Amino acid sequence: MSLFVTFEGPEGSGKTTQIELLRDYLEERDYSVLATREPGGTIIGNQIRAILLDPQNTDMLPASEALLFSAARAQIVHQVIRPHLARGGIVLCDRYADSTLAYQGYGHGLGLEMLHTITALATAGLKPDLTVYLDIDVEEGLRRKLAAHEAGQTEWNRLDQQEAAFHRRVREGYLQMAAREPDRWLVIDATQPLEAIQVLIRARVEAKLAIRE
Ligand code: TYD
Repeated sequence: MSLFVTFEGPEGSGKTTQIELLRDYLEERDYSVLATREPGGTIIGNQIRAILLDPQNTDMLPASEALLFSAARAQIVHQVIRPHLARGGIVLCDRYADSTLAYQGYGHGLGLEMLHTITALATAGLKPDLTVYLDIDVEEGLRRKLAAHEAGQTEWNRLDQQEAAFHRRVREGYLQMAAREPDRWLVIDATQPLEAIQVLIRARVEAKLAIRE
C-alpha cells in the first residue's frame, strides 16, 4: 500500500517542519516513510540543485530553469520515489512538478502545455496522490524566509531574489491548480499554529490511506 504526498508552498511557508512532523507520526504507525526534496535527493539532483540555486547565476533563462528542475526530477523519480512506492512505502516530497508549473509557468510565463509535456517526460506520468499546499501571503512568506536566513537556518537562494510580483503570480498559479483538482490538493492557511496545520494534514493523509487499505 503506497502513497505519494507532495508539499508545495511559497518561501517561508513551513513545509519542512510539517514534513518532519508527518514523517514521525507515520513512522510511529509502522509505515515505511521516505522524506525527500526537490531539487535534490540524488547525487545528480544535488549537483543540478547547486547550479539552480547559485545566487551568482543571474543570467539563467526560465527555459534552462524548467529543463534543469525537470532533469533533477527525472533522477529522483526513477532512483528514489518509484522504487520506494513499489516497495509499498509512503513518499513525502518537498516540492514536485507543481513547482515547475507555478514558478516557471505562472511565475516566469512559460507555456503550461509545454511544461506539462516536459513533466510527463521527467516523471513518466507519476502524479502525487495528495498535494499539500501551505498558503501564505507573499510579503509575509518572504519576511519569514528572510528572518530564517538571518538566523542562519536557511539559505537565501536565487529564486528568493525574484520580485514580489513574481511570487504573487506563483501563488495565484498554485491556487488555480488547487481549485481545478480539489481531490488531490489540500490548501491550508499557513499562518495557523504549527500543530493546527499538522492536524489538518494528518486527517487528509489518514483519509487517503483508508481508501487504499
Ligand atoms: P529551496 O531552498 O528548496 O526552497 P524552499 O524552502 O522554498 O522549497 O529552493 C527551491 C527553490 O526552487 C524555490 O524557490 C522554488 C524553486 N523551484 C522552481 O522554481 N521550480 C521547480 O520545479 C522546483 C522544484 C523548485
